[in-house]
Amino acid sequence: MKYMIHALHGSGVSGQSYDVCGFGNAPHSFDFVYPGRLNNCEGCHVDGGYYPVDPSSVLATTIDVGADLVSPTDDVAVSPNSSVCSACHSSDLARQHMMQNGGDFAATKAANSALISSGVETCQLCHGPGRSADVKVVHGVGEFDFN
Ligand code: HEC
Ligand code: HEC
Ligand code: HEC
Repeated sequence: MKYMIHALHGSGVSGQSYDVCGFGNAPHSFDFVYPGRLNNCEGCHVDGGYYPVDPSSVLATTIDVGADLVSPTDDVAVSPNSSVCSACHSSDLARQHMMQNGGDFAATKAANSALISSGVETCQLCHGPGRSADVKVVHGVGEFDFN
């Protein structure tokens, strides 16, 4: 959900259309321009609702369910914070930065859906409230007169 919603609304800025299969497995390609300011997270979120999440309690984003559609043990997943940020920040450089800080774009899941990852995401240390690269500050949230 969080990857999809950000990628859909970010397609006009990233220049990359977002493709999904909908009802009846019909493909849809989304490449509209979001009418608001994409970096104004409060266009959609409540104040502070857009900070990095606790990666030990929020599920990873499954990107491949594998052959067994019921069990999560053959899923391929993206760790929770890297999933959020990479929806809009899709460059190789951004991806490398996330991986260096514990992000995993090829993680797996245990039978109870817990993340099995090569790293531990430490995003909150620098992107959390009041930290050196605070998500609210770097996006300029609060500086917008209008959405
Ligand atoms: C077009 C609307 C929209 C905009 C703009 C938007 N978000 Fe989101 N965001 C969502 C939705 C919808 C979700 C998914 C909520 C859910 O799954 O419960 C989400 C989820 C998230 C999450 C995960 C929260 C959680 O509890 O798991 C984070 C972090 C996040 N967004 C950060 C941001 C940041 C940072 C910005 C600004 C740069 C931003 N979002 C802009 C709609 C938006
Ligand atoms: C909804 C899309 C969206 C999401 C989600 C998002 N960003 Fe951004 N981010 C932007 C936009 C747009 C800018 C402004 C780019 C510009 O001014 O050229 C930006 C700018 C930034 C900047 C300032 C430096 C730069 O590259 O311009 C940082 C740092 C940043 N984001 C970090 C994050 C982090 C960390 C997350 C995840 C918690 C995140 N962003 C999630 C859209 C997003
Ligand atoms: C040690 C501090 C630190 C940690 C940990 C960290 N970051 Fe960053 N991150 C930064 C700094 C500093 C910037 C650049 C800020 C600027 O340009 O204003 C940045 C920039 C970014 C950007 C913007 C990249 C772009 O396109 O310009 C994203 C997205 C991002 N970080 C995501 C993450 C995620 C996801 C994690 C955790 C997996 C993470 N960061 C962990 C310090 C950190």
